[in-house]
Amino acid sequence: MSALLEFDDLHYTFPGSAIPALRGASLSIASGQRIALLGRNGAGKSTLLLHANGILRPAAGQVRLDSAPLEYTRRGLLRVRRQVGLVFQNPDDQLFSASVLQDISFGPINMGLSLAEVRRRVAEAADLCGISNLLDRPTHALSGGQKSLVALAGVLAMAPRILLVDETTSGLDPWMRHQIFAIFDRLVEQGVTVLLATHDLTVARQWADTVVVMHEGRVIASAPPVQVFADPDLRALLGPAP
Ligand SMILES: Nc1ncnc2c1ncn2[C@@H]1O[C@H](COP(=O)(O)OP(=O)(O)O)[C@@H](O)[C@H]1O
Ligand SMILES: [Mg+2]
Repeated sequence: MSALLEFDDLHYTFPGSAIPALRGASLSIASGQRIALLGRNGAGKSTLLLHANGILRPAAGQVRLDSAPLEYTRRGLLRVRRQVGLVFQNPDDQLFSASVLQDISFGPINMGLSLAEVRRRVAEAADLCGISNLLDRPTHALSGGQKSLVALAGVLAMAPRILLVDETTSGLDPWMRHQIFAIFDRLVEQGVTVLLATHDLTVARQWADTVVVMHEGRVIASAPPVQVFADPDLRALLGPAP
């Protein structure tokens, strides 16, 4: 299985912080995987994901897409961002346009697609995420869960090969959660890799085929759920498994 996205020995410290957020984090991601990214608060999950599409640049180490190191130029970043979609932990960090329609359109327009193609993708993504009725609404007037769905639709409209979702699913009602997981499953069938950073051990156990565990800025496990949850040290770290 050749790697689609690789994190190789990443080190990163936030400006002004005394403690490194990543201390040699390495992980290899292949096509068509369902990955749950686990780890205690502050383990480095969000920081790792922000390196996946070049929002953060490592102080040392390398991120590779299809074996090629990321290029932190405008062109290089555009290339990685059309393939690696990231839904932020906090949708307020992601949404900045006046209306939902504008927000979902932003990515596809930036990709240089035709207006007709942009419209088609926006309508499709909004429909998938159950927010077609919100397109004319101002983003600031939405609920937290609705904002998360808009952020997800904006990323889906770019048709990424890897979808990284940072804890977003926790704020959704059970019906919407079910819908979203159905979307994830469909994407995986199409060969897309879906990675969810989550504290939901049931999701990790039942949905994921690979569970990745981070601790203190490193990846300390990447294995099938049965293997991870059979490990007493990992269980002690993650808390009582369902
Ligand atoms: N914007 C930031 N500025 C300074 N430190 C940060 C910032 N974001 C995260 N950190 C720190 O980096 C470490 C990793 O955080 P994070 O990646 O958010 O962990 P997780 O997503 O696993 O909860 C923590 O020690 C956290 O306090
Ligand atoms: Mg986080």
